[in-house]
Amino acid sequence: MPTAIKPLRPRDIQANASATDIPLPPATLAQWLSGREPSHLSTNSGTPLVAFQAWRNFKEAFAPELIGQAFEETSLALGRKIERSIDPFGGSGTTALASQFLGVQPTTIEVNPYLADLIEAKLASYEVEALVEDYARVLETFTDVAADCFPGAPNTFVEPGRSDRYIFNAGVAGRLAGLRNAILALENPTHARLFRVLLSSIAVDVSNVVVSGKGRRYRRGWEARQSTAAQVLGLFDDAFVRAIYDIRRYRNRACLDYTLLRGDSRLLTPSQGEFDVAIFSPPYPNSFDYTDVYNVELWVGGYLNSKTSNEILRKQTLRSHVQIHRSFETEQLVSKTLDRVSTELEHVRASLWNRSIPDMVKAYFGDMQTIMANLAGALTPGGRAYMVVGDSRYHGVQIPVADILIELAEHLGFEKVADEPFRSMRASPQQGGREELIESLITLRRA
Ligand SMILES: C[S@@+](CC[C@H](N)C(=O)[O-])C[C@H]1O[C@@H](n2cnc3c(N)ncnc32)[C@H](O)[C@@H]1O
Repeated sequence: MPTAIKPLRPRDIQANASATDIPLPPATLAQWLSGREPSHLSTNSGTPLVAFQAWRNFKEAFAPELIGQAFEETSLALGRKIERSIDPFGGSGTTALASQFLGVQPTTIEVNPYLADLIEAKLASYEVEALVEDYARVLETFTDVAADCFPGAPNTFVEPGRSDRYIFNAGVAGRLAGLRNAILALENPTHARLFRVLLSSIAVDVSNVVVSGKGRRYRRGWEARQSTAAQVLGLFDDAFVRAIYDIRRYRNRACLDYTLLRGDSRLLTPSQGEFDVAIFSPPYPNSFDYTDVYNVELWVGGYLNSKTSNEILRKQTLRSHVQIHRSFETEQLVSKTLDRVSTELEHVRASLWNRSIPDMVKAYFGDMQTIMANLAGALTPGGRAYMVVGDSRYHGVQIPVADILIELAEHLGFEKVADEPFRSMRASPQQGGREELIESLITLRRA
């Protein structure tokens, strides 16, 4: 549980802000990642210690070192420096941020508005003194919201909740909403974005729930261990101080440009361009819905304001889950492995925990085909696509995701360079097992 911390007053931070004037040598990827010792490229453990990545621990992120390795390999293969990268599934912004450190211009796409803001808050440049002044303004102007703090949110969101269960007590909810309103009243949208992200990112810590696996559960003994409004302010201060440190320490990344496309990568992935390398990890077809996982942040930050907005967002995500009713129609897909898997899934359809799973699996590969077809047009000849993907299993039917994607990619103008095991993950509870599922790193070359 968080401890009560005296809120940092602007004067305390002001003293440090002038340090912005001290010129720094260009920040390198190695400096950024110093202190972190991953045992393998696949592991994200240790990233909570890394600047920017600690703003919100994103356990589905891949290791930043992967980007360095992919650039080196692609640069060797092309015989020149990498100029531009693309990531159609931005998440916490690992590809884009590492690209900036490596002097490569990043383009990234993210559908979840909280995550898109998290990415942009990391990639943007700031004037630290002005940032501190606006932070002070938020602290001076906020007032706790007394009632109906998060209109439109599920009825378990704020005390009294439903059946005596609620995610936030009234004091914490009122403070979060009050701070958010003061943030949204700021004139500078870049500052407001950063503060909104930082506030949203501490929300789970002052809530009665923990987010694990695919969903939320109440903390043990939550009724007796309530957070307070003062703790909200303390954690927000901590988050701000940490962010200011990272922003100032790494303000001279080799590239400060970026392009962030907010929305559905099935529609937004460019089909033309001059990208040298695509590095990404899409959601896996394992019924994990990122809208659920980041739901608390989405509501606290005001990114969602009605049940409908929640549904619209879910429908814009890749068809990797069955929690929402939508069409699973898909175009013709040329993959013998997918044909075999589809037949096997058809045989077990009646026993599946959701009867739409066979259709969802096909639709997933239809969506991935759309993304890969666009990338085939957007990558320079000889350019590479690196994809971290994971298998799934439903009622004993294994979905060899990497094999199927490679078969599809070979019809789209890609050649396989490598298909390596990346890490293994536990089967989800829905898949009923403790056995491990494979994750792979696929490397493709644009012919
Ligand atoms: C596995 S995570 C990416 C993690 C990322 N590689 C990192 O290191 O942080 C997949 C991301 O894809 C996003 N996503 C899902 N469907 C999408 C869509 N249709 N368009 C764009 N992004 C989408 C999710 O919100 C999630 O952030």
